Amino acid sequence: MSTNTAVSADLDTEAAGTESALFRPTRLGALRLANRLVMAPMTRNRASAAGVPEPIMATYYAQRASAGLIIAEATTPNAVGATYPNIPAIHDESHVAGWRRVTDAVRAAGGQMFLQLQHGGRVGHPETSGHHPLAPSPVPLPGTIVTPSGHRENVVPREMTEEEIRATVADFAAAARRAVDAGFAGVEVHAANGYLLHQFLSNHTNHRTDGYGGAVANRIRLTVEVVRAVVEAVGAERVGVRIAPGVTANAMAEDDVDEVYPALLSALDDLGPAYLHVVFADPDQPLFRTLRKAWSGTLIANPALPWPGPLPADGGRAAAERLLEAGADLVSLGRSFLANPDLVTRLRTGAPLNPIRDAHLMYVGGETGYTDYPTLG
Ligand SMILES: Cc1cc2nc3c(=O)[nH]c(=O)nc-3n(C[C@H](O)[C@H](O)[C@H](O)COP(=O)(O)O)c2cc1C
Repeated sequence: MSTNTAVSADLDTEAAGTESALFRPTRLGALRLANRLVMAPMTRNRASAAGVPEPIMATYYAQRASAGLIIAEATTPNAVGATYPNIPAIHDESHVAGWRRVTDAVRAAGGQMFLQLQHGGRVGHPETSGHHPLAPSPVPLPGTIVTPSGHRENVVPREMTEEEIRATVADFAAAARRAVDAGFAGVEVHAANGYLLHQFLSNHTNHRTDGYGGAVANRIRLTVEVVRAVVEAVGAERVGVRIAPGVTANAMAEDDVDEVYPALLSALDDLGPAYLHVVFADPDQPLFRTLRKAWSGTLIANPALPWPGPLPADGGRAAAERLLEAGADLVSLGRSFLANPDLVTRLRTGAPLNPIRDAHLMYVGGETGYTDYPTLG
């Protein structure tokens, strides 16, 4: 061992002894991450009506560039997949140009970003997207949804034809290529929280009788096809997948989580994506251990913090450390990053955290509650 190596090994040991694993650098595929804290994707409705990211979004993400990795908010890969007003998109050159402003600003601030790709399926409205929502089956989201002109009753989505399924897979792949053109290090395929891919996974929202419905092997098919197409388009090291087993967001229900997710992970593992991102991960649940065992690659865990808040005073640090001890490689936090641009420094030093301001500010335009959260000092 050369002297330099010995010195750096000593420093590593010293750092390891004094610092939480959360703040130690690591790798994600070809990327070197400064720490193991990931900013979770969060929809903030600050794009233009046409889905073009606005300059204020570059400011917001650059403020949070000290995260080991930022996963930018849910972004629609095609027009029909748009969920809510002012959601960003990535299906034409104006979207690429808007996102490039964001990735340039984050790179200049020393950060790295993936982009989450989300097709809403039944979570959408013709007044928002200009299209009738498409879903695995004509099972509507209960209640109302926000549109540009206020809340409207949800419509019954139309069952996707097999041709529309093939077009959707191609749209995800094209969106991934555009995301890389726009300067993202990769994309996260959103198969969580009750949007299109999750709707295919659940027998409550998927009543199909063709090769995409019924048996578990059929219900996982679309997610696997999307991930395969995206991997072929941009390379496995640029692809992550987000899942939410049993999470009831957007009125989801799942009867066979213990069969669906191991089967899904086994099929996805073969494609070798950069990471799996698990929402509301609880290290005390057997499912977390099952998923960890079933996944040979990097696992990002999003801890199950109180929802809705208030958040714990430590912003989720203790929960994050428990997840690392239980086998997660990286931990994502959402609301703590939303309210604390310098969250990594605050968690590292134990500085107090900014409280989150009005929840309604999360989803409206403008600077208030977006780019005006203060940093320390
Ligand atoms: C304002 C807001 C917007 C969100 N938007 C998304 C989204 O676009 N995509 C997604 O997968 N999850 C979304 N989530 C969920 C977060 O990624 C995260 O899973 C959740 O906030 C729990 O993490 P936390 O307890 O650290 O906040 C959102 C959460 C919040 C608070």
